[in-house]
Amino acid sequence: MDSQSIATAAYIVASLLFILSLAGLSKHETARNGIIFGIAGMTIALIATFIAVADVADTTSVVLLVLAIAIGASIGLWRARIVEMTGMPELIALLHSFVGLAAVLVGWNGYLEHKPFALQSLENIHNAEVFIGVFIGAVTFTGSIIAYLKLSARMKSAPLVLPGKNWINLGALALFVVLTIAFVINPNIYLLIAVTVVALALGLHLVASIGGGDMPVVVSMLNSYSGWAAAASGFLLDNDLLIVTGALVGSSGAYLSYIMCQAMNRSFISVIAGGFGIAAPASADTDYGEHREITAEDTAELLINATSVIITPGYGMAVAQAQYPVADLVRKLRDRGVEVRFGIHPVAGRLPGHMNVLLAEAKVPYDIVLEMDEVNDDFTDTSVVLVIGANDTVNPAAADDPTSPIAGMPVLHVWEAHDVVVFKRSMAAGYAGVQNPLFFRDNSQMLFGDAKDKVEQIIRAL
Ligand code: TAP
Repeated sequence: MDSQSIATAAYIVASLLFILSLAGLSKHETARNGIIFGIAGMTIALIATFIAVADVADTTSVVLLVLAIAIGASIGLWRARIVEMTGMPELIALLHSFVGLAAVLVGWNGYLEHKPFALQSLENIHNAEVFIGVFIGAVTFTGSIIAYLKLSARMKSAPLVLPGKNWINLGALALFVVLTIAFVINPNIYLLIAVTVVALALGLHLVASIGGGDMPVVVSMLNSYSGWAAAASGFLLDNDLLIVTGALVGSSGAYLSYIMCQAMNRSFISVIAGGFGIAAPASADTDYGEHREITAEDTAELLINATSVIITPGYGMAVAQAQYPVADLVRKLRDRGVEVRFGIHPVAGRLPGHMNVLLAEAKVPYDIVLEMDEVNDDFTDTSVVLVIGANDTVNPAAADDPTSPIAGMPVLHVWEAHDVVVFKRSMAAGYAGVQNPLFFRDNSQMLFGDAKDKVEQIIRAL
């Protein structure tokens, strides 16, 4: 068997492993196997590609390939080892930008190094592939960089609202179609430069226009774009595995974005079209009155006298790494006969399933960790709610202030409980940058300080 046939066979096996990986990742219990399938698929794909290239390339190319793999793998291993859970979405956004950049480079290379086909129809298809690959890649590249800057708080998360922003997006798309037709008819470098610039600007504008609470959807949407960019490169490089993998990432990312939009009551079209239809938020300087504070000792007192407690964790629990003392507190309260459950918002933290992973790490039993929809009707019968480092996901303004930037997003109705204790360090706003009227409600009290320290103090007081 020649090396190309070995590579083709290996690619089929790798594609199957990637499909099994996605299937595994869809459930808690099978996620670990899913990751193993993914690693196996990628290892097979890399080895097969190496063998196929080594067979036809000269020594310099093989040395360059080995160097590229070694440098890439070392940087990947190093970043993955040091990244904090809370830094995961920004790392993912940055990785998506590399896929986008790679697609742009492959597209450009497809134009510069191309030996014309004898058949004009094949030539036209090739030109369209170059153009589409560069376009999707460039949108993904700048879009992901803006997402990275927003997620790592290097750029404000508020949406950029330029006048006629929807027309800017639609205009860029129309221009892309016109340029594509022109390029297929008469391919030249100026058109390629033009589409690259238009796509880079569009990616920048699309993601800058999406603000605050909608960022989770943006990350999965860029995931989807990066998949399509990889598939486009696959066509250009005549690599079936890249086409299959790109299509898997593209469609699963699109589906995840759709599910997240439904969970957050957002229009899918509005988000993928760069916040289409989202108006600038009203500048709200509402005076909500005074907030009350509580000590760890008094919180312990409240908990001892409670019959039922719901804990709603958020990003702050992840920052403080408070999940271990929280798990300890839960054990102590349950030993005393208090019913304790967790209410998890679909976008609590900074990545899907963030809170579930942290609580599983701290060995909190799965059966008391409930989804938002499973607990939202139970708050009225709950004695105490502990809001541990959550903010946007428990903001009543989402439910009752139509002018709020997060209006319409379903939230945990914590304010319906008898008492609410909010763990945070200051009165600062959450990720979406909006004030939270919950803090000023009569049944709410603020427990200021690092969430981990405060939970440990409560445990001592108990
Ligand atoms: P956030 O709204 O992000 O608020 C977290 C709160 O934790 C802050 O108000 C902060 O207040 C507090 N905090 C930070 N460090 C703390 C510490 N060491 N101890 C105690 N408190 C601390 O949290 P959330 O309710 O989880 O909402 C998530 C937000 O992120 C949503 O807007 C969501 O759309 C967005 N988002 C989610 C995802 C996914 S997929 N989950 C991805 C990207 C963005 P202080 O500074 O005053 O302490």
